[in-house]
This record gives sequence, C-alpha cells and structure tokens, in this order.
Amino acid sequence: MPEHPTSSMNWERTRSLFPVTGEMAYFNNAGVAPISSRVDEAIRRYAGEAVRLGAFNYPRFFDAEIERVRGRASLLLNASVDEIAFVKNTTEGLGIVASGLDWKRGDEVLTCDLEYPSNVYPWWSLRGRGVETVMLHGRGGRLPLAVVEEALQSRRVRLLALSSVEFGSGARNDLEALGGMCREHGVLFCVDAIQSVGCFPIDVEKCGIDFLAADGHKWMLSVEGCGIFFCSKRVQDLITPRIVGWRSVRNNRDFDTYHMDLQPGAGRFEEGSPNTPGIFALGAAIDLLLELDVSAIGERVLALTDRLVSGLRNRGAELRSPRGPGEASGIVSFVIPGQSPADTVRRLRAERIFVIERRGGVRASPHFYNSEDEIDRLLAALD
Ligand SMILES: Cc1ncc(COP(=O)(O)O)c(C=O)c1O
Repeated sequence: MPEHPTSSMNWERTRSLFPVTGEMAYFNNAGVAPISSRVDEAIRRYAGEAVRLGAFNYPRFFDAEIERVRGRASLLLNASVDEIAFVKNTTEGLGIVASGLDWKRGDEVLTCDLEYPSNVYPWWSLRGRGVETVMLHGRGGRLPLAVVEEALQSRRVRLLALSSVEFGSGARNDLEALGGMCREHGVLFCVDAIQSVGCFPIDVEKCGIDFLAADGHKWMLSVEGCGIFFCSKRVQDLITPRIVGWRSVRNNRDFDTYHMDLQPGAGRFEEGSPNTPGIFALGAAIDLLLELDVSAIGERVLALTDRLVSGLRNRGAELRSPRGPGEASGIVSFVIPGQSPADTVRRLRAERIFVIERRGGVRASPHFYNSEDEIDRLLAALD
C-alpha cells in the first residue's frame, strides 16, 4: 500500500502553502481557486528570468519547463506526453474537437442539460454543418447511465460530450462505464474534466476517453488561461486543426521553409507562442498535486464534503447534490429552507466564508487545504 499523507497533521501542514487560509474560509475551488505559494514562486521565477534576461536562455529556461510540465500533465491523466496540448481554457479544448472533427451530415452529439455552457455551445454551433445536439435530461442532478445507454442504442450518435463532475449539482459521472458504452457503440468520448482533474484521479486509457479538456484554475489550483487538452493518439487524425500557425508543424524553429507537415502529436493544436507564465504556474500546481497524491486528495475532499453534508442534513437543509457511492464529488449544493441562496451566500460572505450560488443552490467546494474547523464554521454560520 502506498503511504498517503492522509493524517490530519499532514493536511494541516498543506494549509501553510495557501495564504488564503489566513484570510477566509475559501469554499469556491469549483469556481476560481486560490493559488499556493509554490505557484506564486513559479510565476516569480518566470518573471525573474524574463525581466533579467528576456529570451536569452529561451531553450534552456522556458522550452525546458514547457516540456517538463507537459510530461507532468500526462502523468496526471495517464496519457502519453504527445497526447497533451496546452490550451487557454477548457472551452478551447472542446472547440478544437467541435470545429475540427470530420463531421458528416446527420451525425449527432449527445450531451445533457446539467452541463456548463462550455460543453453545450460548441456542439450547438455545428447545426449549420448538419450536426444535431441531443440534450438528455438530468434527474435529481445526475444523468443516469441507463438514459445514456438508451440514447446510444436508438440514435445516430457520433460523440458523447459530458463532464466528469456536473458543475451545479456536483454529480460525478462514471467515466469508466460511459467510456465502455461508447466503445461498444463505436462512439467518440469527449470529457470536460475541469471539475475533477486535480481532485480525483483520472485514467484516460482505462476510461476509453478520446478527448479531454481542463483549465488549471479550479481543482488544479493554478491560474486562469492555461489548461490541458488531451487528444488520444487513436483519434488525432480525425481532427483537422482549424487554426494553424508556425508552431503547429514539425521543425517549427525552421522559419525559412514553408510546409504544412503537422506535428505528429497533440502539439499540432498549439498554433503560436505558448502562455509561458501560465505553464510555469500550472507546472508548480501539478507538482504539488502529484506530491500529495491525487487519490489521497480525493479521499480528503470526500471526507470534508461528507462532514459538510451530514451537518447540513442535521440542520434540515435541502441537499441538491447526489451523494451515493461513486457519485459524490468536491461540490456540495444546498438550499436553506425559507432563505434564498443569494441571501445565504451574502450572509456567509459577511463572515468571510466564500461560497457562491449556482443552478439555484448554494455551492460549497472545499479542497484538501480546507480544514474540518472551516467546515464547522460554515455550518455554525448557518444557525
Ligand atoms: C464544467 C465546467 N466546464 C468549463 C468551465 C469553464 O470553462 P473555461 O475553462 O473555458 O473557462 C467551467 C467553469 O465553471 C465548468 O464548471
């Protein structure tokens, strides 16, 4: 058994890496998370070099870190390094798939009405190309597997587009089961994973995922504007990049010979200069996640959210989040009877407890660096 730092002692120690803990109880990691002092240092390391030496040591300093971080990102997903591209956000990753896939008229995309708009509009935008988006209906905050299976059997689905965790209710989708169903029906599987990468382990190979996108600013605890896009080698040639530039091609430091020989891996989706400071930040963030172990982080987050859920139930709150085996996540959505979610959010904010309102509920999303005491503070503030 690997040694996980699951004792409260160790988690307590991680709090010192998050200066935000000295300011408030921060329960909006599913929105925009705070960064650690490690990420702060990485951004300063980038700036220190840029301000002193500019691009003088570009290959050794900047390129080396970009490729190191690509490797670390691939470890997080159990992907190969050449299946990872840096993107500016989740939406861009999903858009690469939507705009670039070799669609045929009559193809269908399956998604559902629990999804964040980023995973709806790219597919709706394909209507003019003869692609129909089928919006399945969630029930009680979750999308039952049987509903997906039925649609896969009865329709002409080309691609299933779902989130790993639904942003409003926090329902965790069973990616392994969904991936198995996709394989059985010859359907592509595209995952918006921003609400779980960094919080729960994900194995793109085991789950049969073809495409996955996640920006860094939620559970990975990095900054906005720099995320990862995974494109499986199996399907890379099905996608024609719609934006192609100097960096998309092989030998892209030869600026004298024009050619359209695309990079063999997912690097072909990086068309121009990278978001280097964002990649420095992401690298430090992923290093911390891997150091703490993502499985252990998942257990920790479930322990914190279980504590919150049980306190909410004791207070008669209406729970909006499915919490059955395998479907709980880092997101807990609730409503206090007789109080609007906006009022609850305001009251908590006044006590330096940061939650937000989403999809008609108060959404609290603790990460590993939050403490049991902070959960108890939130519950006490509701009384
Ligand atoms: C499920 C989901 N997808 C995507 C996003 C954001 O996408 P992007 O990284 O493009 O800003 C969010 C943000 O709240 C989200 O919850």
